[in-house]
Amino acid sequence: MPPSWADSAIDRRSVLLGAAAIGGFLALHLGSVAYARGPVGSGGRLTPQSFIDAFQHVNGVHRGFRRNHAKGVSVTGYFESNGNGADLSRAAVLRPGRTKLVGRFSLPGGNPTVADTAGANRGLALAFGYPGSGQWRTAMLNIPVFTVNSPQGFYDQLLASKPAADTGKPDPDAMTQFLAAHPEAARARDVIKAQPPTSGFADSTYRGLNAFLFADTAGNATPVRWSLVPMQPIGTAAASGAGPNWMFDDLITAIRRNPLRWRLMLTVAEPQDDPNDATVAWPPERRVVDAGTVVLDAVEPERRGNARDINFDPLVLPDGIEPSDDPLLSARSAVYAASFRRRAGETSGTPAVEAGAVSR
Ligand code: HEM
Repeated sequence: MPPSWADSAIDRRSVLLGAAAIGGFLALHLGSVAYARGPVGSGGRLTPQSFIDAFQHVNGVHRGFRRNHAKGVSVTGYFESNGNGADLSRAAVLRPGRTKLVGRFSLPGGNPTVADTAGANRGLALAFGYPGSGQWRTAMLNIPVFTVNSPQGFYDQLLASKPAADTGKPDPDAMTQFLAAHPEAARARDVIKAQPPTSGFADSTYRGLNAFLFADTAGNATPVRWSLVPMQPIGTAAASGAGPNWMFDDLITAIRRNPLRWRLMLTVAEPQDDPNDATVAWPPERRVVDAGTVVLDAVEPERRGNARDINFDPLVLPDGIEPSDDPLLSARSAVYAASFRRRAGETSGTPAVEAGAVSR
């Protein structure tokens, strides 16, 4: 039987949250000058459906899989909070103590069998306290800043990245046009290029990239960005490993050998920092609070009931953590919900990464 979003109350809640955000997203764009400029779209207006169409136009349709970050594995573990974040936010997860985690490592794109490459962005999504009320869900990447700062920028970038039929690579003219129309993306590229990737999933730093407001018990709200800094030794990236799943295989082997650990770091904005532009890094001298340790100690292939069936909607937040006004957030929430609804209604194929049989 295909998975259903009605399987659990919390999934239904997240889809409802997503649906609410879609309303806001559409309203926002009805009154704006954002247009779908590509060969697909819905009558010129940018909507969650335009994003789903664009993902399918670029990657093809892979039924039952995420329309982005389709290749992944599910992990579980826990977060051991040391209480240091509790001054910034009243969220229960930041008080001293342990919270269960369900997560997912992934690579971007809609193709669930894409070959692992060292240069592809690495994703780590976590649901703190799943299943349960007051969850905190986050989907992070191993890059220092995001590539674009608006839904239109994401959409234009997606279309420009479509591999050409003859070369299998993005059309250089389309990419030049995209970068000329989005100078913030050209600047972000330089920042990203200056920080080469590490050897794999286990030694990557994952960043939430969007800012959120941390609200304390007195109601003061401070913009914060979070990141996970690896406690494993850091290696340099291999050009590529053996086999199509080498990076996932390394991750599986590493988790089976020892639990993997990251420090949860909270970077606190100063008044001059823009919380609404994910392409701009905040200065390195900002206050950083070490809030505790994320421990991931089990890995399994995607299957019914594990992280496969979670929508890592960045607007599923506990009391004490609130969204900023970053326009990417409501767009993400709406598009993730549209992707989730689509895949939940389809029968999944076999995932590319079978954690029981490391593929080399
Ligand atoms: C407008 C901007 C964005 C759009 C339209 C977008 C779209 C998507 C979609 C459709 C999915 C699949 C959702 C699902 O079926 O569950 C996804 C997954 C993901 N995205 Fe985004 N995304 C955006 C921005 C970002 C940003 C800023 C980050 C990093 C901070 C990010 C990181 C991820 C990760 C790690 C996943 C995989 C989550 C999982 O394992 O379920 N995305 N994205």
